[in-house]
Amino acid sequence: MKHVAIVGATGAVGQEMIRVLEQRKFPVSTLTLLASKRSLGKSMTFQGKQVPVQELTHDSFAGVNVALFSAGATTTKQFAPSAVKAGAIVVDNSSAFRMDPGTPLVIPEINPEDLKSHKGIIANPNCCAIILLMAVYPIHKINPIKRIIVSTYQSASGAGAKAMEELRLQAADVLAGKAPVPSVFQFPIAFNVFSHNAAMDPETGYNGEELKVIEESHKILHNDIPISPTCIRVSTMRAHAESVHLELTNPVDLDAIRRAIENSPGVRLQDDRKTNHFPMPLEASGQDDVIVGRLRRDIASKDGREMDLFCCGDQLLKGAALNAVQIAEIV
Ligand code: A2P
Repeated sequence: MKHVAIVGATGAVGQEMIRVLEQRKFPVSTLTLLASKRSLGKSMTFQGKQVPVQELTHDSFAGVNVALFSAGATTTKQFAPSAVKAGAIVVDNSSAFRMDPGTPLVIPEINPEDLKSHKGIIANPNCCAIILLMAVYPIHKINPIKRIIVSTYQSASGAGAKAMEELRLQAADVLAGKAPVPSVFQFPIAFNVFSHNAAMDPETGYNGEELKVIEESHKILHNDIPISPTCIRVSTMRAHAESVHLELTNPVDLDAIRRAIENSPGVRLQDDRKTNHFPMPLEASGQDDVIVGRLRRDIASKDGREMDLFCCGDQLLKGAALNAVQIAEIV
């Protein structure tokens, strides 16, 4: 049995971490819930009991075996070393250590062997990178990918609990005939689509989210496949969608690809051309599996080695909390 701490327990991902620990029957002896001073007085339900939220300090980790962090990169940089010093293994959902060469960046279905080299901190990848790689890895294994072009349709949850609340409030406001008031996002999120809110590099025209998808995918796959992402925020609540174009090494064999997806853990094929039923954020929400479909040969491909697909995954689960708990289960 393990003493588990969740840093950022009141956040969108932190709340899911509590649920995932419970659902997966993680062997928790004690659960310590940590957040900022703002959350003092709050409590959250775990295994039918109310657990009070405590203020995160450098002394919060005495006796903790596993610390799941999801409170942003600044908080991780400040407090993860204290957790490691106290003897805890940290699984961090922020970008703080993802590209640190000494820190494993892991999707358990893809590169679990990287966990062996951890020195106390393990990084949980960016949500879009996880959903993309879960969808394409079964294909990569049977027909290596030579190039990826991906466009994302990212939900409000990726920007945290306040962003989800902003979507709810703005949607109600717009339907009541009132003007939406942006606060977390620069632009209205309700009934809108805009370029991802991560910082834009004026030189290249790529934003921070797109660079994460490229760099983190390379680190996880241990290769440097060319990847061209376009990351977009849409007004869905908690599941991301991605439209993916792949150039493969050999001609596309759709039957073999369907079988590979069906036989891979953590992904589900939803590819029904007759009923026009393909992956949808609403059907991915609350689900562990990344849903993959709209598999087709690229009609414009000259040599038959290019294909397209569409996938959806719950950003808060496989894109964050579930992947982190799966990592904790292995270590
Ligand atoms: P709090 O609710 O007390 O602000 P989200 O990603 O949904 O916005 O959630 C962020 C999580 O990180 C929340 O639980 C938030 O706690 C927590 N958090 C943010 N900054 C700090 C901090 N400086 N110290 C501790 N927890 C923090």
